[in-house]
Amino acid sequence: MSNILVLNSSLSGDASVSRLLVADVVAHLTARDPGAKVVSRDLSDAKIPHLTPETVAGVRGAGMSPVETQARALSDALIGELRAADTIVIGAPMYNFSIPSTLKAWFDHVLRAGATFSYSESGPKGLLSGKQVIVVESRGGFYSEGPGAANDFQEPYLRTLLGFIGLTDVTFLRAEKIAFGPDARDQAINGVRADLARIADRQLSAAA
Ligand SMILES: Cc1cc2nc3c(=O)[nH]c(=O)nc-3n(C[C@H](O)[C@H](O)[C@H](O)COP(=O)(O)O)c2cc1C
Repeated sequence: MSNILVLNSSLSGDASVSRLLVADVVAHLTARDPGAKVVSRDLSDAKIPHLTPETVAGVRGAGMSPVETQARALSDALIGELRAADTIVIGAPMYNFSIPSTLKAWFDHVLRAGATFSYSESGPKGLLSGKQVIVVESRGGFYSEGPGAANDFQEPYLRTLLGFIGLTDVTFLRAEKIAFGPDARDQAINGVRADLARIADRQLSAAA
């Protein structure tokens, strides 16, 4: 039985393209492993707060004040979910050329020296391994090639954040041109669904 951690971060509720496609990815995974345990975090509720001067020491792994201890407990819980997961599915809309601040807040709580990465004389080392990550990226515009590519601070950033903690097996599924009208939106959704069907047997089954 595998563990699947699902993170959604779109603020658009039922109209969200990334939520729709994340659900498709999870359906593919659970079809292959019906006993899989799915843990879901909806980051859009902003219950994972931004770091503050009062909480940062707790999240970084030190600090003894009640507020720091509380922050540390949330960070521990999120790191625990991440460690337990065999597969992590992330819905990541592009917001202002990067990721939603709620998703950034999640990363701020799980990137912790000594827990998910370490520093040594040879540089930083990710401490997580053997996990598969599938990221659904939804974007109003087009960034895969041409002039928009230089403004893509979403995918390279996510690759860096994930790689930093040892999550290097990452598949990105891009739904682009969502803002170009209903036909373009449908085309983007169908494109990702086709990509998913194409990679499902080859890649997703490895995680189940
Ligand atoms: C606050 C906000 C900022 C956005 N910034 C960008 C952007 O920089 N580039 C872009 O192509 N689309 C941008 N969009 C459009 C979203 O990427 C697009 O609507 C996408 O479908 C959102 O994902 P979702 O459908 O899962 O909510 C933005 C949307 C919002 C709400």
